[in-house]
Amino acid sequence: MCGIIGYVGNNNCVPYIIDGLKKLEYRGYDSAGLAVLQNGNLVTVRAVGKVAELEKATLIANPKGTTGIGHTRWATHGKPSEENSHPHTDCTGDIVVVHNGIIENYLTLRAKLEARGHRFKSETDTEVIAHLIEENLLHVRASHDQDRLLKAVQKTNKEISGAYAYGVMWARTPGLLIGVKKQSPMVVGVGKDENFLASDVPAFLKHTNKVLFLEEGDVAVLHVDGVTVLDKDGKEKKVKPVKISWDQKTAEKGGYAHFMLKEIYDQPQAIEDTLRTARTDFGKILGLDTDGLRQLRNIHIIACGTAYHAGLVGKYYIEQLAGIPVSVDLASEYKYRTVPQLPNTLAIAISQSGETADTIGAVKKAKELGFRTLAICNVLGSSLTRTCDSTFFTHCGPEISVASTKAFTSQITSMYALAAFLGQANGNLSQTAFEKLYKELLALSKDMGEAVKLEYEVRHLTRKIYKADRFIFLGRNVNFPIALEGALKLKEVSYRSAEGFAAGEIKHGPISIIDKGTPVIVLMPHDALFEKMLSACQECRARGAFVVAVTTKAGAKMAADVADQVFIVPQTNELLQPVLDVVPLQFLAYWIAKRLGCDIDQPRNLAKSVTVE
Ligand code: F6R
Repeated sequence: MCGIIGYVGNNNCVPYIIDGLKKLEYRGYDSAGLAVLQNGNLVTVRAVGKVAELEKATLIANPKGTTGIGHTRWATHGKPSEENSHPHTDCTGDIVVVHNGIIENYLTLRAKLEARGHRFKSETDTEVIAHLIEENLLHVRASHDQDRLLKAVQKTNKEISGAYAYGVMWARTPGLLIGVKKQSPMVVGVGKDENFLASDVPAFLKHTNKVLFLEEGDVAVLHVDGVTVLDKDGKEKKVKPVKISWDQKTAEKGGYAHFMLKEIYDQPQAIEDTLRTARTDFGKILGLDTDGLRQLRNIHIIACGTAYHAGLVGKYYIEQLAGIPVSVDLASEYKYRTVPQLPNTLAIAISQSGETADTIGAVKKAKELGFRTLAICNVLGSSLTRTCDSTFFTHCGPEISVASTKAFTSQITSMYALAAFLGQANGNLSQTAFEKLYKELLALSKDMGEAVKLEYEVRHLTRKIYKADRFIFLGRNVNFPIALEGALKLKEVSYRSAEGFAAGEIKHGPISIIDKGTPVIVLMPHDALFEKMLSACQECRARGAFVVAVTTKAGAKMAADVADQVFIVPQTNELLQPVLDVVPLQFLAYWIAKRLGCDIDQPRNLAKSVTVE
């Protein structure tokens, strides 16, 4: 939700800001803006729409300066309009603020500030920050302007509440940027004679891979030649830069038309990279010895959207391999339901970004209940990883497309590795069984390399079905969550109506929506449930459905008798099969959206990380 970039250095900041905003556009794309300090004056450019619109407007305004901030917006307070676009200014126009998150007490603050004569120009919550800083600058004492601004920011932080990250610039302090982080993402990039403030690493990865991860309540003070970090009480603290191993190329499209397509093709590598660290001592990560692991009695999985679907798959894994009962909750529901406070419970939060507010909120609740917490996360230093007791990282590199693909398959892979580890540790799996499962897991990346070869066939099929109004996805057992994921992917990027069902459920109601030509995509690997899936295909076909079967080689012939189209994915073990089965569904969503002319990487109304409740 919203992307922030700030630059302070010796070069013209404008290209850095525009480029950084393009990298952050996945976080929001209703409108964008920037402010540059040019010869002691702040020049602000804002535009409704994507960063490309801002780029055009900036070319005309042509601001130049070595200190600047930029923002790409996902509207929360106030419609997407130029007035509501960031940066926002105070009454003097000398203070500019870019912000991500929500200031919960903004209405009270706004009323107070208006009573004191402040004039507001937007409907946003952000603008109160600029006016509060203006007000606080009048009341703090300091020997020079740089210190005054810092003190005014610190005072402001004590007055605002909510989850936020923001960047500030003042016309009177060239060469200075201040960043604040509280429960919304904000990192600092440390370069040579230039430093960056950003919501996410890809925004500056081209220029530096040295990153300072801020903690809740931290204030970062950026100059050309250095960065100081202060904690929430104003005490200076040492933060060691972390070298990020992400390759800059992984944050670019690399010749693909869209990030979504590139990221589908990234999956063999993402799985391999995730597996490199997967055969690890989860006991050490969890802080549990053999006895502690044997005593685990309950596992709660919490996540949102696609990550929730990975959690649903994880339930099958853990229950089958480790014999531990698992509940899977949407994080937004977990927070508000009564959760029995049972001992020996582990809560696992799955999240690509590590910044999803609902997931972080649910983890906080799990901690309050006394549960040990583990994050399965892709982003180093993210808020979730700081909130949980420990983290296992998926290593898929930056996922830029709003629709999640490679993070999903890496999450499932991680859940499998965790389940196998738990099973081995608590004696549910023999060493031989564990080794066999692991061998199959290690072959997964190669199988994924085969699965992505299906693009051409899927693309071809979409020509026949892309105009359908509604799509149905069916799966059973461990493939049921894949049916849900296939439907989510399709509706996200193509805006078509799509629903996923457990195949056994359709006769209890959903079959009534099948009509002549309705595409029904059936996940039916050749496993113990294959025959039941054949019947499901027949039931749908009898009602006029256009049946697409996703199966393995052994099932291809029989599937062809009951389906209009068959896709053959490589065969792996029954539990791992969903990792491969989802691939044609990802391509299907991509190609339907492409044929419909949708904005694939940035679907309407969505943002990559949902940092508000
Ligand atoms: C779907 C999608 C979303 C996210 C969800 C959780 O393609 O991307 O449903 O999966 O918002 O996000 P993370 O994993 O960052 O917590």
